[in-house]
Amino acid sequence: MRTRVGIIGAGPAGLLLSHLLHLQGIESVVLEARSRDYVERRQRAGVVEHAVAETLRGAGVGGRMDREGLVHHGIELRFDGRAHHLDFPDLCGREVVIYAQTEIVKDLIARRLADGGKILFESRATAIEDIDAGSPHVRFTDGAAEQVLECDIVVACDGFHGIGRASLPAEVVRTFDKVYPFSWLGILADVPPSCDELIYAHSDRGFALHSMRSEQVSRLYLQVPNGTDTAEWSDERIWDELTARFALADGSWELKRGPITDKSITPMRSFVTEPMRHGSLFLAGDAAHIVPPTGAKGLNLAMHDVMLLAEALTAWDRDGSTTLLDSYSDDALRRVWRAEHFSYRMTTMLHPDPQGGDFERRLQISDLDRIAASRAAATEIAENYTGLPQV
Ligand code: APR
Ligand code: PHB
Repeated sequence: MRTRVGIIGAGPAGLLLSHLLHLQGIESVVLEARSRDYVERRQRAGVVEHAVAETLRGAGVGGRMDREGLVHHGIELRFDGRAHHLDFPDLCGREVVIYAQTEIVKDLIARRLADGGKILFESRATAIEDIDAGSPHVRFTDGAAEQVLECDIVVACDGFHGIGRASLPAEVVRTFDKVYPFSWLGILADVPPSCDELIYAHSDRGFALHSMRSEQVSRLYLQVPNGTDTAEWSDERIWDELTARFALADGSWELKRGPITDKSITPMRSFVTEPMRHGSLFLAGDAAHIVPPTGAKGLNLAMHDVMLLAEALTAWDRDGSTTLLDSYSDDALRRVWRAEHFSYRMTTMLHPDPQGGDFERRLQISDLDRIAASRAAATEIAENYTGLPQV
């Protein structure tokens, strides 16, 4: 089998890249280890930055997002029993769309297949070879036989546990890693959200986040110790803990409860690989970097990587120019590090460190107080949340 661009992974990064290349007349094949059903059911993030939403619209795959997604004009920070609203249009003139990553994945798969695109599900890449030689190939197996995909370029969009990152020569790679001393317990519940916009809550009992998937489905998270098993958390215990963490001092807010349909644990980690390219192998999305979810940047960063790559591959396909391909890693990493910084800042500001004491908690409140009091500090959060400033 032969194609121009071999893409490993049918997550949002691989699928958007394949679609953007198709719009430019560039052929690709996507190899995906899992089944279509599995990929379409996976619960992931839900906040789409303004520029990413614009890209989806411009590429003709934003229709359902615009019909079913919820446009949010801000977030609420809750701390010390108080609520502070950040008004994004007022602070930075942008907004975000709440639309689940899994829905974006469904939209992109449907569109690729309707356009005759090749996505090979249940086809696991096992090796990426000859990336120095200029005619790389990917070995993959569909369970029955091993096959080979020959390409001009390979893009590994195969997530944090894929084979792409490990296929760069060890001597050229540097990695940067931070594991946080807490995780998130996430739930999906069949209950209308108790708020119009997301609430990020700092409390002495730990962080809590109120997000949503639709007018009928709420998505909520609790900071829990690493190694927590969802079996330790009954539905009642979860709702009681969420209620305690979101409580306002004047008692003016109530959390609605409903049937919990999903419980999962998300570890909190920051990770970056440098460079994001070697020879004819490029990394994009979680394959190259991950962020803790507090800044809602993981999905957006993955999309930005492939937006850059699609432009670079288009120039290369049109006139053989490699200028943008050559600068891809540096260009992508500048944004990646800004997202790492913002995600780290949001995470360390909002989660009481289980090893920290009153001093650290007081510092966090002081930091949050400054955001509530200073337009400049609030603008910085709003700008980063809705779309990182150009770097
Ligand atoms: N061969 C083929 N496919 C693979 C292989 C392999 N060896 N290894 C992994 N995959 C597939 C996975 O099954 C998955 O569908 O690659 C895909 C990677 O998708 P994502 O993990 O969604 O990564 P990405 O597209 O970069 O999107 C990043 O996902 O984890 C969230 O917070 C993160 O929102 C961000 C987004
Ligand atoms: C989500 O809706 O899943 C979500 C929202 C905001 C975040 C993280 C996750 O910061």
